[in-house]
Formats: sequence, structure tokens, C-alpha cells
Amino acid sequence: MSDVVSVRKEGAIAVVTIDNPPVNALGHAVRSGTFEAMAGLRDDDTVAAVVLACAGRTFSAGADITEFGKPPQAPGLGELVDQIEAMPKPVVAALHGTTLGGGLELALGCHYRIAAPGTRVGLPEVKLGILPGAGGTQRLPRIIGPVEAVKFIVSGEFVAADKALSLGIIDSLADGDLTEAAIAFAGKVVEEGRPVVRIRDREDKVAPFRDDSSAFDAAAAKATARARGLEAPFACVEAVRGSFELPFEEGIKKEREGFLKLVAGDQSKAQRHLFFAEREAAKVTDMPKGTRPRPVAKVGVIGAGTMGGGISMNFANVGIPVTIVETSQEALDRGFATIRKNYGISVSRGRMSEDEMERRMSFLAGSTDMNDLADADLIIEAVFEEMDVKKTIFRKLDEIAKPGAVLASNTSYLDINEIAAETSRPGSVLGMHFFSPANVMRLLEIVRGAKTDMDVLATAIDIGRKIKKVPVVVGVCFGFVGNRMLKARSLETEQLLLEGATPQQVDQALVAFGFPMGPFQMGDLAGLDIGWRIRKAMGSDSDGGKAEIADALCEMGRFGQKTGRGFYIYEEGSRGGTPDPEVEALIVETAKKHGIERREISDEEIVERLVYPMISEGARILDEGIAQRPGDVDVVWVFGYGFPIGKGGPMHYADRIGLKHIRDRLAYYAERSGNEKLKPAPLLETLAEDGSGFAAHAKAKAA
Ligand SMILES: NC(=O)c1ccc[n+]([C@@H]2O[C@H](COP(=O)([O-])OP(=O)(O)OC[C@H]3O[C@@H](n4cnc5c(N)ncnc54)[C@H](O)[C@@H]3O)[C@@H](O)[C@H]2O)c1
Repeated sequence: MSDVVSVRKEGAIAVVTIDNPPVNALGHAVRSGTFEAMAGLRDDDTVAAVVLACAGRTFSAGADITEFGKPPQAPGLGELVDQIEAMPKPVVAALHGTTLGGGLELALGCHYRIAAPGTRVGLPEVKLGILPGAGGTQRLPRIIGPVEAVKFIVSGEFVAADKALSLGIIDSLADGDLTEAAIAFAGKVVEEGRPVVRIRDREDKVAPFRDDSSAFDAAAAKATARARGLEAPFACVEAVRGSFELPFEEGIKKEREGFLKLVAGDQSKAQRHLFFAEREAAKVTDMPKGTRPRPVAKVGVIGAGTMGGGISMNFANVGIPVTIVETSQEALDRGFATIRKNYGISVSRGRMSEDEMERRMSFLAGSTDMNDLADADLIIEAVFEEMDVKKTIFRKLDEIAKPGAVLASNTSYLDINEIAAETSRPGSVLGMHFFSPANVMRLLEIVRGAKTDMDVLATAIDIGRKIKKVPVVVGVCFGFVGNRMLKARSLETEQLLLEGATPQQVDQALVAFGFPMGPFQMGDLAGLDIGWRIRKAMGSDSDGGKAEIADALCEMGRFGQKTGRGFYIYEEGSRGGTPDPEVEALIVETAKKHGIERREISDEEIVERLVYPMISEGARILDEGIAQRPGDVDVVWVFGYGFPIGKGGPMHYADRIGLKHIRDRLAYYAERSGNEKLKPAPLLETLAEDGSGFAAHAKAKAA
């Protein structure tokens, strides 16, 4: 047989085993091997039934993504699924691990499915910007109905075995050894003369929707409500609709067309890029193989403010005990009350039980004495953003922390090397930069100091994954990758107002681009006073471009949402703001003062003047080695700042638009305004001149 597919027989039952580590991806060798095996068994009269199983840690977890975009090699997955479904004898799929995407579609071609406890199934294709293209959108609705199917396919979420059983996706849960159980199950099917169940022939679940699709339409609308400009969720809906509107073969044809269109599109390319970039971002190019993380069984967090509380919740969520240290009992109580309130929201929405909330709270202890952190394996400092305060804390930590403890700062901007130098163990110090709200946002910038030990870096990456974050390793500079580029994005925001745009026009242009909100909405949400205080302490443009309007608003006591007024007015209890004529008057007056003639500004210009300077800053970041790869920058912006995933992050987007265009536009805006800061970065200049891109440049450098 083939290298990756084998057949053995136990009496009249044949077992076909796919063995293609690590996850039994359905590449060409697997497809052709399985196809051949099935063809042989079809004609083998000594075989009464077939079990299809996978070796290793999981049943197939899906297609081989590296084959996407290459010429297809027969048999395609759809062809294989059809062949199995058409087998004249029962085929039983034996599922374990994460049976995903093409793996689940393969199982849906089988006549019965049995799963080991702990198995999870899902069709996560939508997360790669595509739809299940091997019959999943037609067969799943025939088992669980179009309403459940549209939720399942558009969310791309995984479902646990017991839920899959109750939905009917699997027929039985295995007791003991899975393959043995599957063989016994197949034997019983033969013995009892149970039918060969071809899902394609089932009509009972889909037929009712032909006359009345209103329940489907409602479920589809709900499932796509947060699709934010992505095409795949809508294409999934239309494919599932085909399951009841069209005969099976035509539904498959429609699914195929949808798949091919998506897979060739920019969004899917962007999402596949992010899929790989996310996995790559935590890899450190010079980390020796076999570097082992230090064990982390106990965590200390210093500061129970906005960040400290959220950071602590991440550890409690996975059962790691945390001691939170504050300056006073009052501050501790306030911090714990906020944590409880946040968990309470999950409880009130039915996403968590009371018991679970109490269980998580039980992992959190409070203290006003730093000495209580003496036995912590990892200590994360999240106090005020002031160097002197941080230095004092790290000197104290050096005295009390046990040898080998990892000492991390959650600083947004400050120099990790300077902080590390306060200790006698700079090798154990690094940045672990969480994003607000820290219990929700998935990005974790891991800031590598000049002296950070490799195993300390490995510890931060490992624990980051354990608490379900997306770790990205970055170097030391002001603001690291994310905030440094945010500062570049702020260069022109107020200038646009003075030249004629309104806050709502600027925000809407970025929302139309795909961001969840624009810069003025973001400022109002975070609090305008934060930047105002920094600017007062550190100089006028320390956090970006000119902020004359924001400063004037702060002088008026308008700090944003928390005071009910900022760039917008917020009605009591509402989060969305409404435009304020007073702010517009302030803008007009300030423009007049500077002799600026206000004019109509296009949305295109707004996007270019906000997004292109970020890209240019990203080029500097790459040039300086602050980020290891362009994909890392993309991951930071997608997971930390809501850059639209359908555009793949700023650097991927830049490659698609073409660096020459971006260079030319920046040069034009720099020239027109006389603002040197808008000039394209040297690397951007060079690559634009060469007709190259960031990805190509990184690839060439790595080779
Ligand atoms: N807020 C954000 O969006 C955000 C995002 C990422 C990183 N950060 C960074 O996280 C850090 C904390 O920010 P925050 O927004 O949580 O601030 P915060 O003001 O909400 O909380 C800081 C807390 O630290 C406590 N504290 C101060 N000195 C202390 C000490 N010596 N010992 C123990 N506790 C002490 C304060 O009492 C306060 O409760 C800062 O470095 C900030 O730059 C903030």
C-alpha cells in the first residue's frame, strides 16, 4: 500500500488507517492512498464492512493548506468523499482528537461515525476565508438541519463529542480502545443488517425549509452579524442555503464555485497568511533547539488596576494561582471587585456558571506585601507607567524573588533594558505586554531585552500559549511594535481635522477600511487624559502627531466616555457617541488660527494618511530587527489593534497594494505638508525601487 495509508483485516472487517503525522492532513498521497484502498475493498468479497481510522494524535484535522492555490491533483477530496459514500458496504469512521475541516467532511462521506470521548469536531474553513469545499455545506445540514449547520459553519467553532452526539453528527461514543470499538460497531451494523446510510439521500432535515426558510434566514443573519466586511461567512450561508434550495449535486456545484472564488480572493490569501504568521510569530530564530521553558506553577501580579486585574484573570482561567499585590487594602478591594464584576458579566450572559466563577476567583489571592511573591515562578509588574516606580519595584523584586523566577513588566513604552539593569539578574527580566482589556485581547508582545535568557523567553512564550494568548516576540524600542506604529498612525489624525475632515468622517473611513473603530472613538474609549498627561510630562508630540484639539478638550474636562464628553457626546448608558457641534466649532476655530483653509477631504485620503505612515514605521521596525518578520507585525496589529483580518495586517496589505504606490503617496504627502516624518522609510524606498515586497524581502533574507 502507500506510505501513509495501510489496510488490515479483522475477520470480515477491514481497517483503513491513515498515518500522516502530525495531524493527518489530507494531502495528495493520503487522498490517493485512501482512494486506492477503498477501491480494493469495494471489490473484495471477503470484506463486509470498512473502518476508516487515523493513527497518531488525531483523526484528520483537514486539508493540506500548502496545496491551496496550486494546480489540483486527482483525486480531489470531494471525489474521495463521494467514492466512500457510494461504497456498497458500510464504512464507519473512527474519530478522535480534532476532526476538522476536510477531516470532518471525509467522515461525513462515511455511513456511520463513532468517536472517542474528548473528540472535537468542526468546520473551521471560514477562519481561513473559505468554505468547506468537499460537501460539508451540503451533508452537514442533512444531518443537523440548515439552522444548526449555518451556525456551525459560519462560526467555525469546534463542538465537543457529547454535543456532536446529541446533534447527530456522530452516531456513537466509543468505550475503551477506539479502533476496537469501531470494529465492533461495524460488526454489529453487518450483523443487524443495518443500512448503508448515504447522507446525500437524506431529505427529512432539509425538505421543510423549501417552503419556509425564515428560521434559516434569521439564524444566518445572526451568524453573520459580526462579519465586518468578510466575504466567507456570507458565502458559507449561501452554500448552506443550497442544501435545501437545490438538489444535492447542484448544491455541491454551488459549494464548489463558492470555494474556488474565495480561495482565489485577496481575503482568503490574507487569512491564510495570518494562520501561518500566528504560528511563526512565537518562533525565535536564534533560540537553540531544545531550549526548555521554566515551570510556572505560581504567578505574582503587581498592581490591581486596569491591566493587573485582567492579566490575573488569564491565569485564574486556566487554574494557575495568582497573588496580586497592591499598595493598599482599598486598592486591592477595588481591583478584586472589578474582576468579580467582569466574571459576573459572563455569568449574567449565561457563558459561565456561578460555581465556575467562584472556582476561578479561588485562584486569586491579594496582598499588600511584596514579600508574599517570594515563591512565585513568574511575576508580572503592572503599575503606573513611570520609570522610577518600576525601577523601585524591580530592585525590590531582585531582593525577594526566588532564584530562577521570571520577572516581567507590562510597560507600554518604557525601556526593558533600563528596568532589567536595576536587578542583579537581567537575564530573568523581559516585557510581557498585554493589551486592554487584558482578559479579552489575544495579543501578547513579549519584549526581549538585550540580556534576556533564552529559557526566560521560552517561558514567556509557553505560558502565553497556556493562557490562550498569541505571543509575538519583539525587541526593545519606544512603544515596541504595536504602540510605535500606533504613534505613526496618529501623526496625521488631528491635521486631517484642521484641514477639513470631521472626527466622525475620519472614524467612519477607518471603520469602512475594516477597523472596529476609528482613532477618535478609540481615544474617547481609552480616555483622552492619558495622552494629555503624557504630553504635559514629556513634550507635545510624545505620543504621536499634534494633539492641540485633544489637549483643548481635556482642558475643558472632556476626557471621553468616562466624562460623557470627548470628541463625541455620550448619553448616559450609551457607548456610541454622537457628533458635537461644539467640537466642530473648536476645530474650525483652531484651523483659522493656523490660517488653514478647510476643504473637502476624501475617505481615500484619510485612509492613506493614517495607514501608510504605519506601514512606513513597520518598515523601520523590520529594518532595525525589532520585529523578526513582516508577519509578526501583522499579527501584532490584527490581534492587538483590530486591523482587518481580511487585509492580513499592515505589511501583507502593503505588499498587495504595492510598495511603490505607498512610497509615492507618502513622498507626496511629505512634500505637500513639509512634514519630514511622513517621508517613506529607507527600507520602503529600497524595496519599492526594486519592485519587491516585505514578504519577498524577508524570504530572501532568511534563505
Ligand atoms: N491601560 C492600558 O490600556 C494598558 C495597556 C497595556 C499596557 N499598559 C501598561 O500597564 C501598566 C499599568 O497600567 P494600568 O492601565 O493598569 O494602570 P492603572 O493605573 O489602572 O493601575 C496601576 C495600579 O498599580 C498600583 N500600584 C502603583 N504602584 C504600586 C506598587 N508600588 N505596588 C503595587 N501596586 C502599585 C496602583 O495602585 C494601581 O492600582 C502601565 O505600565 C501601562 O503602561 C496599560
